[in-house]
Amino acid sequence: LISPCKKFEHPGFTLPALTFYQERVNISCQCANTSCPSDLQVTPTPTDVKKNQVDTRPDTIVLLWMWPFGSKHPLSCDEFNITGCHVTVDKSVYHQAHGVLFHHRDIGNTAMPTEPRPWFQKWIWFNMESPGNSGKIPNLDNSFNLTSGFRLDASMPMPYGSMEQLPSVKESFELPTKTRLICWVVSNWHERLERVKYFTELKQYINLTLYGRAFGKPLNDHDYENLVSSCKFYLSFENSIYKDYITEKLYRPMMLGTLPVVLGPPRENYERLVPPNSFIHVNDFPSPKELVDRLLYLDKNDNEYLKYFEWRKWFTVTRAKFAQEACCRACVYIRNNKGYQVFASINKWYWG
Ligand SMILES: *[C@@H]1O[C@H](CO)[C@@H](O)[C@H](O)[C@H]1NC(C)=O
Ligand SMILES: *[C@@H]1O[C@H](CO)[C@@H](O)[C@H](O)[C@H]1NC(C)=O
Ligand SMILES: *[C@@H]1O[C@H](CO)[C@@H](O)[C@H](O)[C@H]1NC(C)=O
Repeated sequence: LISPCKKFEHPGFTLPALTFYQERVNISCQCANTSCPSDLQVTPTPTDVKKNQVDTRPDTIVLLWMWPFGSKHPLSCDEFNITGCHVTVDKSVYHQAHGVLFHHRDIGNTAMPTEPRPWFQKWIWFNMESPGNSGKIPNLDNSFNLTSGFRLDASMPMPYGSMEQLPSVKESFELPTKTRLICWVVSNWHERLERVKYFTELKQYINLTLYGRAFGKPLNDHDYENLVSSCKFYLSFENSIYKDYITEKLYRPMMLGTLPVVLGPPRENYERLVPPNSFIHVNDFPSPKELVDRLLYLDKNDNEYLKYFEWRKWFTVTRAKFAQEACCRACVYIRNNKGYQVFASINKWYWG
């Protein structure tokens, strides 16, 4: 029962139907591109569920149970042009809330609701960290109704960034002035990490501009943007390699007009989110040496280099707004999908 998704055509690239802006997308189409997780069961509400709490509120209410990592953000859905949603952290609306969103990292240090859930209420498990960076919690199975996060097969997928089609095709685009060749800003350093192994070999063939805590040169947001936009290439190396785990390390350089060199899941995975010719994948080359040869070639051949930015004539890139966006997506989803849903085995689905 999958409805067709609205697709945007662009030479060589079809936008995945993940965007929820303007409510133009029927959310239930999301399984068309991904396979629906088999353990997401959608069945009629069981007859023994007592409808003693009445769902009378005109708005769809989503309660954010805890601020992810304790950091507070705006919660309104106005900027996504979504109306009829009330997103709040006020726990006193618990009995009216249609959705309650829980951030995985903070489950365990925040008390969970103790009062029974109203029959219409859905609990949403939200996680933007990779399985390797997320502690496993034993009792996740059969307690949540929906999942949200970067996994494209989540009930409500939310990648770290998305491409938005421009209102009209642009004739040309401009890149910031380039004064550096390859840059990398990195904090988390460990010899066992794939990206550290790759870098260790790469640096034998080329000098790089290196910043971040790992090199004793941390950068604030502003300096990061100034630096990265001045680089021809940026190493968008993920800290751990998992299906769909493609973070702001890809999207920020794209936004800044810098060509990402990615290390993460396979190329096909990236191609589900961004145009095939908008990045360079380390797996495209037999070894770091050949990658360096290619980058040096592109440095000398502007026309070839600029081809990687053709997408800028059709699209802009935006970054996800974590809790706010997750709550607004949840609101739209819940409004459109009122049936009974239980996500039976989060642990197996997420950690395998
Ligand atoms: C919201 O609607 C306004 C007015 O129609 C439009 O200019 C804006 O681009 C829309 N924003 C999004 C995120 O779709
Ligand atoms: C890196 O820079 C140093 C100092 O300028 C130079 O001696 C070295 O040959 C360069 N290494 C590579 C691989 O280009
Ligand atoms: C949500 O999941 C819980 C726990 O499995 C279940 O008892 C409840 O009926 C579900 N609610 C809805 C609206 O799907």
